[in-house]
Amino acid sequence: PRKIILDCDPGHDDAIAMLLAHGSPAIELLAVTTVAGNQTLEKVTRNALAVAELAGIQVPIAAGCPRPLVREIEVAPSIHGDSGMDGPSLPPPQRQLDPRHAVDLIIELVMRHPPGEITLVPTGALTNIALAVRKEPRIASRVREVVLMGGGYHTGNWSAVAEFNIKIDPEAAHIVFNTSWPLTMVGLDLTHQALATPDVQARIAALGTAPARFVQELLAFFGETYRREQGFASPPVHDPCAVAYVIDPQVMTVRKVPLDVELQGALTLGMTVADFRAPPPSACHTQVAVRLDHDYFWQMIIDALQQIGRE
Ligand code: BDR
Ligand code: CA
Repeated sequence: PRKIILDCDPGHDDAIAMLLAHGSPAIELLAVTTVAGNQTLEKVTRNALAVAELAGIQVPIAAGCPRPLVREIEVAPSIHGDSGMDGPSLPPPQRQLDPRHAVDLIIELVMRHPPGEITLVPTGALTNIALAVRKEPRIASRVREVVLMGGGYHTGNWSAVAEFNIKIDPEAAHIVFNTSWPLTMVGLDLTHQALATPDVQARIAALGTAPARFVQELLAFFGETYRREQGFASPPVHDPCAVAYVIDPQVMTVRKVPLDVELQGALTLGMTVADFRAPPPSACHTQVAVRLDHDYFWQMIIDALQQIGRE
């Protein structure tokens, strides 16, 4: 299995990403690290612990940065509610937080494993990842690849052209996109295809297990805010798409293109700029996800939920 560190801000779709990573036999989840984003660090960390408890995830969970590198903190209650994961009611988590800072845990794990083994899967702001590579630059050549949810080459959701995870900490994103590790951007262009349609939700409901019920409740709340705030008939379930790519890259088509993050533009701050001019330079280390195999993706989620339900 592929070893990953999931760096996230749960968050409805982050929670589903945790379940997919835990339930898939193709993934070995080494740690879950948290970062401020959908809600404050305290809230998203509590949510991560609660999801871990519900799903029986035993790996270390460590809290990271409480705010972006340069900008003021910006959270998303309009989408994720006051708790960051409104909808399902979960008992207060009993699980203990790992005492290490997320940045140190990431560095420690990457340096302890042989080069090329660990894949970083960030599904929140890139603050922790940026700080980790600044604190210990040797991780850049030891990480196998970075597969992140964030950005979009033709779509924005936090401004006309910028996506939330990138927009709230563009300086961190700039560092991560400009580090020479192989990087796959699973952005809105892709994740807006990962819709939890009524048919998908019915298949999840039919599983009848506690984790499946939890996902149903997440999707009910998330579906409502996405309908109200962004006009979606069914909610786009962003973050598990990045995990799905690690499970099997065949679940989506990707294109190699140079990527950079806009830090200056009055209208375009936080835009992920993709250069589609052919051919890509030979040194290009970045690619974007383009087209999702919707059936295969949801089958992965359902298989993972079935697996967790058996434990
Ligand atoms: C991203 O922003 C967050 O609200 C979601 O969890 C996802 O990571 C989508 O723009
Ligand atoms: Ca997220």
